Amino acid sequence: MAMTLSLLAYLVSSVCCIMALRGLSGPNTAKGGLMFGIAGMALAVVTTLMLPGVSSYGTIILGVAVGGGIGALIAKKIEMTALPQLVAAFHSLVGLAAVFIAAAAFHNPEAYNIGTRGEIHIGSLIEMALGVAIGAITFTGSIIAFGKLQGIVTGKPVVFKGQHMLNAALGCVLLLLLVLLCVTESPLVFWAIVFLSFLLGVLMIIPIGGADMPVIVSMLNSYSGWAAAGIGFTLQNNLLIIVGALVGASGAILSYIMCKGMNRSFFNVILGGFGGEAGGAAAASTASDKPVKIGSAEDAAFIMKNASSVIIVPGYGMAVAQAQHALREMADQLKKEGVKVRYAIHPVAGRMPGHMNVLLAEANVPYEDVLELEEINRDFSQTDVAFVIGANDITNPAAKKDPASPIYGMPILDVESAGTVLFVKRSLGSGYAGIDNELFFYDNTMMLLGDAKAMCEGIIRAMEH
Ligand code: TAP
Repeated sequence: MAMTLSLLAYLVSSVCCIMALRGLSGPNTAKGGLMFGIAGMALAVVTTLMLPGVSSYGTIILGVAVGGGIGALIAKKIEMTALPQLVAAFHSLVGLAAVFIAAAAFHNPEAYNIGTRGEIHIGSLIEMALGVAIGAITFTGSIIAFGKLQGIVTGKPVVFKGQHMLNAALGCVLLLLLVLLCVTESPLVFWAIVFLSFLLGVLMIIPIGGADMPVIVSMLNSYSGWAAAGIGFTLQNNLLIIVGALVGASGAILSYIMCKGMNRSFFNVILGGFGGEAGGAAAASTASDKPVKIGSAEDAAFIMKNASSVIIVPGYGMAVAQAQHALREMADQLKKEGVKVRYAIHPVAGRMPGHMNVLLAEANVPYEDVLELEEINRDFSQTDVAFVIGANDITNPAAKKDPASPIYGMPILDVESAGTVLFVKRSLGSGYAGIDNELFFYDNTMMLLGDAKAMCEGIIRAMEH
């Protein structure tokens, strides 16, 4: 009876997790999605704690208190711009948990009902071997991703001769060890798999440029899901299998969407090279030789007040400057003047999926004003002003014109078709891709050089007077 009830509760919890993902796919439904996620997780934890085999409540409560306390503290303190590395750090823990659970099941199989020591069921052994290998790769890979994003490890690709060959050879050895474990059940082989996978996690991530890390974080997210699903099979826990598969699949889809938004093949990202810091300074120096129109907050206020429509294009710099609140105030002011204001969101603006949507939602920008690239791109040609704030690559015409450019083929926002392009950034320097943006030198472009937040505040003041 207790078992049937727990199965039912797990089923409800799985449905809640599916509903959570569904809700999180749009800003209007995201809050509801989060509620489903919280309810599903709470039900899963309570059901697990009530299972007949669970007895060590003291240790569990201590673990929840310490882990939950640290999690709550980090969530309160974390800067919005540091979210990608936080996600990477948390993924590393999922990987480590998979390794620990597999080790516990391997050394005490009776407790998990998967056979006896030295005679573990072959199916469980295969699941365990895969779970531990993926978990260990996720652990060290995520730590390197965290280090790169946090600036602790160099953001440049770390490459050496024969690197891909070495990785391929180690991958083959790992496969052999997995087979050997299933045949011999040797603890030595089990730990050899763990350490080799730790090493592979490091070697796979170091050649990837720091700026490509968001794609990698999403890929590691997917790995951590598959590791959890593998362990779910070992523990015969349906909920873990379903939730693990959901995380695995959604992480893989997200990586694909990001690569598509950047027009980069997933293989290219994995093979590394692009996304190092090189190129930015050089781009800035060549740029400074060309004539450029530089305006002030007062100029921008005058131009926008007299416009009938303005499209705001936010990018990574808005996040850095935390300019979203001042930007919304500026837009409100313009709306009061009778100007039609909308926001255009590029799929890879910022440094993580939905980065701009989250910031604009935080500043209470109405969702109906926020439009995706496909919805708004054609409207630039009938718009008086494109107000580009802290964005760069996502507007760069080189993506359309220059086949030699690293961003060639990436879909971009056609801001240059607007009557006037106002560009808020601190210099003529490049963005993430490290390349020049010829748009700064177009006749209809005016550069507003300065910090994004300070510039918005300056424009608001100028409009008030
Ligand atoms: P970027 O091309 O990186 O440009 C951001 C610009 O913001 C910079 O040129 C910088 O110029 C400016 N900036 C920085 N701090 C500022 C501040 N305090 N005030 C005003 N401006 C500031 O950003 P984007 O246009 O959003 O494009 C995103 C890039 O990231 C794309 O190349 C995309 O492929 C890549 N990427 C995105 C993702 C996801 S999922 N979003 C994942 C991986 C990679 P100054 O230094 O001159 O101020």
